[in-house]
Amino acid sequence: MITLIEKIGFPLSEENISVIESCAKIIKNGGLVAFPTETVYGLGANALISDAVKGIYAAKGRPSDNPLIVHINDIDTLNLIAKNISNKAMLLIDKFWPGPLTIIFDKTDVIPKETAGGLDTVAVRMPKNEIAKLLIDKSGVPIAAPSANLSGKPSPTKASHVIDDLNGKVNAIIDGGSSDIGLESTVIDMSTDIPCILRPGAITKSMIESVIGNVILDKNLLNEHEKPKSPGMKYKHYAPDADIILVQGNNINNVVNKIIELSNSYTNKNIGIICTEETKDFYKNYNNVISLGSKNNTETIAKNLFDTFREFNKLNVDIIFAEGLPEENLELAIMNRLKKASGYNIINV
Ligand code: TXA
Ligand code: MG
Repeated sequence: MITLIEKIGFPLSEENISVIESCAKIIKNGGLVAFPTETVYGLGANALISDAVKGIYAAKGRPSDNPLIVHINDIDTLNLIAKNISNKAMLLIDKFWPGPLTIIFDKTDVIPKETAGGLDTVAVRMPKNEIAKLLIDKSGVPIAAPSANLSGKPSPTKASHVIDDLNGKVNAIIDGGSSDIGLESTVIDMSTDIPCILRPGAITKSMIESVIGNVILDKNLLNEHEKPKSPGMKYKHYAPDADIILVQGNNINNVVNKIIELSNSYTNKNIGIICTEETKDFYKNYNNVISLGSKNNTETIAKNLFDTFREFNKLNVDIIFAEGLPEENLELAIMNRLKKASGYNIINV
């Protein structure tokens, strides 16, 4: 398949708008278009056409029981695809849509089983990105879109990441520059009695609780996988090609010392280090050191994380040591991705 690659600038020109219109037509007619959102790039298809959605799973190599997020632009479409929408869910919508919050509802029959991964629920999000909004508007249909990466790879935060993973497998890729947030949306299940955060993101637990009161974190986000494992033992592979070992502790000096000790012990491996602006100078003796940004600017750290994972693939490192962050607010989302990427290979110091 030949993939159209279209670069879009801001503010949108007439030509940009007509490019988005043709991509919208591709989606409406059952094709696949990767597009930017404020979180990460998505791989979009018409959420109402089973075969179109099957194309998403095929292009990504994604297991078909992993449900997709449906992207919409208005509440009428929400009422078409979801039911039993609670008052609390409406409060979240008023506060956080459009934006990086995905809400899970009971689904209606309009949503085919492929989109919902066989579940009775549907995940819905109203994105904020101008290109995403226009694409949904012009297509006139809800757009199912997972992150536009090959299954198991880091989510794409630049068009070049999408091109690396999906060129030749999709009809079009819209290049809208770097993602503002760089981490996937917060996912909250509002279909159950007690609202439950399934995936942490830029809309934090405390932001949500300030609107609807107590919510819980899914147990997988708490301690279930945190048992320290011996280095090299993987619970689950995800993200960069190299193994990641996450080093966590309240005292940053201990964390740095542990990483230096580990780096020196893996003499026959090409090692990489993920650190912050505050600690990068401690690792001057090592080659593949990438700072995610200042620990005082977690938005930048979030934005750089997935790109850094992909940078390490280019550097051909065998093993990456990453500094942990305290797990609150946006750092909870950052640490969630780092822990998954490490296969819960965590050393506490
Ligand atoms: O920021 C984002 O959410 C991006 C952009 C493109 O919108 N999309 C994204 O999609 O990250 P994806 O497919 O990579 O992640 C969706 C997550 C998966 O973990 C999936 O299992 C979960 O949401 N999910 C989707 N529908 C669900 C449902 N009905 N019940 C429980 N989890 C669901
Ligand atoms: Mg994904």
